[in-house]
Amino acid sequence: MAVSVVVGSQWGDEGKGKVVDLLAPQFDIVARYQGGANAGHTIRWDGQTQVLHLLPSGVFTPGVQCVIGNGVVIEPKALVSEMQKVQELGYDLTGRLLISRNAHCILPYHKAIEEVLSADRIGTTRRGIGPAYTDKVARVGIRAGELVDPDLFGQRLRSEVARQNTVLCGAYGHPGLDAEEILADYVDLGLELAGYVTDTTELLHRALGAGKKILAEGAQGALLDIDFGTYPYVTSSNPTAGGVCTGLGLPPTAINQVIGITKAYCTRVGHGPFPTELTDATGAHLRKVGAEFGATTGRPRRCGWLDLVALKYSCGLNGFTELVVTKLDVLSGLDTVKVCTEYEQGGTTKSHFVNDTRALGMTTPRYEVLEGWTQDISNCTQADELPPAALALIDRISSFTGVRVKTISTGPNRAQTVELSR
Ligand code: GDP
Ligand code: IMO
Ligand code: MG
Repeated sequence: MAVSVVVGSQWGDEGKGKVVDLLAPQFDIVARYQGGANAGHTIRWDGQTQVLHLLPSGVFTPGVQCVIGNGVVIEPKALVSEMQKVQELGYDLTGRLLISRNAHCILPYHKAIEEVLSADRIGTTRRGIGPAYTDKVARVGIRAGELVDPDLFGQRLRSEVARQNTVLCGAYGHPGLDAEEILADYVDLGLELAGYVTDTTELLHRALGAGKKILAEGAQGALLDIDFGTYPYVTSSNPTAGGVCTGLGLPPTAINQVIGITKAYCTRVGHGPFPTELTDATGAHLRKVGAEFGATTGRPRRCGWLDLVALKYSCGLNGFTELVVTKLDVLSGLDTVKVCTEYEQGGTTKSHFVNDTRALGMTTPRYEVLEGWTQDISNCTQADELPPAALALIDRISSFTGVRVKTISTGPNRAQTVELSR
């Protein structure tokens, strides 16, 4: 069995795009299993930077097939324009990109509903993610397989717009959406996608049977998981490793590697508790040096010290077989580096993460203080080039979580990577 998974272990933006792009040449298929265009996965090579929102981060590796699984929510307009951009860069997608016919579509009424219901309350990416997953669970969603059939899509869309308008206009005074206007755009988008939409589960099962290697790419991060994250300040899907099974139709027994990505510090975009957040000059320093601005929305990311209590929780949820620590270079130049090893909540000290959003909001982090280093490490590619203090931080991450750190990222480019042999 040969399925590997890349999962964000924090609140997203850990550097999953860089890692998936780096690993892609070792795989036959790269498959996204959840989320939608709320994701922004950045890939940098040879002086160029590309941000992917819906396409798997294997698209820039010729010969690798890319799958958008049934667990993903697809905004057809965003997908078609991203496909055009990638093809213009010279990466052909014909026969290489496969979209699940069971993936649900994000349609204009989803964004309208999000605006009136939850965008400001949660600080969402305003991509219509929550309302699209709501419709999926309510069994009224329109799937990719229907989008590509103009007659069926017309029928389904007209009846859905009428239903959604009763909520939008009746409860929120929205002027309402016009089904014919939506159809004028979306029928063509459906036709453009028709050649890519297929039964991806069957395709993945055949690939497994033929001994092919599959890399499942998560979006967001474990602490944004709808079940295990800091609810309600979460996304509406399961970025944790379990999402691979439901989002692609792969059995858990096929997964033999789960790679957790963690920054050497923490960031979060949007609202919700963040025990180690730094609102001082150090937080501003991390944001500046780490260029911590959202790849999807451009919003400044909240920054703080690495939270080992939360990371250990994430290890428990995902069963990481190894960790990749990214953005270690961003910590260069700090006198000391802190890692949170305990939470103080209501007079008691805890070394394990309790998934209680209210309590997390009233948590005082307790830190271990480690030595900093001054050396610029962004050109290091070997472990023995790294300063001892940087390696001591890596060792502390491993000893606290019980998961070995296999790779360190020292910059956004493919080459800025250190493989650890221990
Ligand atoms: P993703 O959503 O997990 O794929 O991460 P994002 O692309 O949203 O954010 C990660 C950002 O950090 C991107 O701008 C990457 O180019 C950049 N990045 C990734 N790894 C490193 C690293 O090791 N050092 C630095 N300085 N930047 C990195
Ligand atoms: P990648 O894949 C960071 C956050 C939003 C908000 C919450 C809910 O690039 O790591 P949503 O639009 O999903 O309903 O918003 O989740 N969020 C992310 N934060 N990285 C992401 O994706 C995110 N996708 C959603 O900021 O707090
Ligand atoms: Mg991102």
